[in-house]
Parts: sequence; structure tokens; C-alpha cells
Amino acid sequence: MYLTVIAAALADSSVRTLSQQEELPLLRDHLLRLDRTSRRDRFHGFMDDSFIERYAEKCANDGTVIIAFIENGVVRGAAELHPPDRSPDSLPEIAFSVESSVRRRGVGSILFRKLIKEARARGYKSLRITTGAENEAMRALASKFGAQLVFSHGESTGTIDVTRYDQAEFATSWVENGVNAVRAVVAFNRAYWRMLLRMAGGAPTEWGAS
Ligand SMILES: CC(C)(COP(=O)(O)OP(=O)(O)OC[C@H]1O[C@@H](n2cnc3c(N)ncnc32)[C@H](O)[C@@H]1OP(=O)(O)O)[C@@H](O)C(=O)NCCC(=O)NCCS
Repeated sequence: MYLTVIAAALADSSVRTLSQQEELPLLRDHLLRLDRTSRRDRFHGFMDDSFIERYAEKCANDGTVIIAFIENGVVRGAAELHPPDRSPDSLPEIAFSVESSVRRRGVGSILFRKLIKEARARGYKSLRITTGAENEAMRALASKFGAQLVFSHGESTGTIDVTRYDQAEFATSWVENGVNAVRAVVAFNRAYWRMLLRMAGGAPTEWGAS
């Protein structure tokens, strides 16, 4: 029963890097859906729609990588990997946003793992994260991935050492295995029920082919 509930929740979800053409509309619409508090937490106070529209446009044009959690074709969570600027001590900056409807289900953690994998593939060794000093959720998420956060002027800033993560671990991470296992259960359940319904007179068309 429990597995069936998880399977239903993840059945139409995926995590992938957005193409440059997708970034502007999909990232923008996701960020615009964030409620007031989430916008404040994500953008350290900047909250109006026009700021978010300009921000998404900038991401689409400055080489920012967006890893998205997509549910039924809609981006519900995003991890941003911003390239470093030209100053010698600059580090790639990262940021996260998960819509409240899917929070505390491990989406932020899945995005974080994918982001570290992407950062490693690009040869980055360290990443910087900045969040509000009061942002418990982001502090918990960052600490889970080894960030040592330092408080200063109302902000928490930390770095993540991505070299401590083993490449092989990411190739078959438990998260990906878990999601794949759930998908396998879903596929099996669909095939099984389709077979039963066919025997009883026909399967519903909205299930499609799998
Ligand atoms: C921060 C955020 C991305 C977390 O996303 P999420 O999908 O809920 O994260 P997860 O479910 O993977 O949780 C990660 C860890 O943080 C903990 N956590 C999540 N929300 C928490 C909260 N409100 N208080 C305390 N801990 C919290 C979880 O328990 C989990 O720890 P565990 O795996 O040891 O149990 C999400 O809350 C968010 O988008 N907030 C608004 C935007 C924002 O603040 N962005 C950060 C600016 S960079």
C-alpha cells in the first residue's frame, strides 16, 4: 500500500537539466508560482513579478544551468548552478527553490545531488551557497550536503566541496535507484491492471502506452 502511494506520487515526475530554450519560460513560471515567503527566502527580499521575469531571462542568457524537478510537465523545483564571474576568488553560486506543494518529500535533496554531479562534470571543485540566516529549510538542506555555513549581516554563506563526492556513487545513487525502482513498480502495476481490464472488456485510454 505504502509503495503504491509513493509510486503514484512519482509516476509522472522526472529530474533533468533544462535546455537553454526551456529555461526562460519554465524557470520563470516556476519562480512566479512561489508564494510571498518563498520568494523572500529565495531572493533575499526581492519579490515582485518583474524582478523574477528579468532574473529568469538573465539565467537563460548567462550560462546558468537549471536542473528541474518536473511533475506532469510543470517545473515544481529547480536547482541553479551559476557560473563564476571573472574575479580570481569567484566560485559558482548555487540556489534552490521547491514549490510548497512538493516540499519535504526529498525533492530538494534529489536536485542537490544532481547539481553536484553536474558541477563535477564541469570541473568545479567548490560551490558557494548564500541563504537568509533564518532560513531553516535551506540551512538543513545545505548542511546535509556538507556546507559549513557562516553567519554574517543576516545571511548564512557556505561552501560545498564537491570533490568529496565519489563519481561512482553518483552513477547509481540510491535516489536514482529508488526512483527507477518505483517507476518499475508503476510500469508493472499498469501492465498488470491493463491485462486484467482487457480480459474484462478494455483498458482506459488515458493510461497510454508504457
Ligand atoms: C529549501 C527548500 C529548497 C527545501 O526543499 P525540500 O524539497 O523541502 O527539501 P527536502 O525535502 O529534500 O529536505 C531536505 C532536508 O531539509 C530538512 N528540511 C526541509 N524543510 C525544513 C524546514 N522547514 N525546517 C527544518 N528542516 C527542514 C528536511 O527534513 C531534510 O532533512 P532530512 O533528509 O535529514 O530529513 C524549500 O524549502 C524551498 O524552496 N524554500 C523556499 C526557497 C528558498 O528558501 N530557497 C533557498 C535560497 S538558496
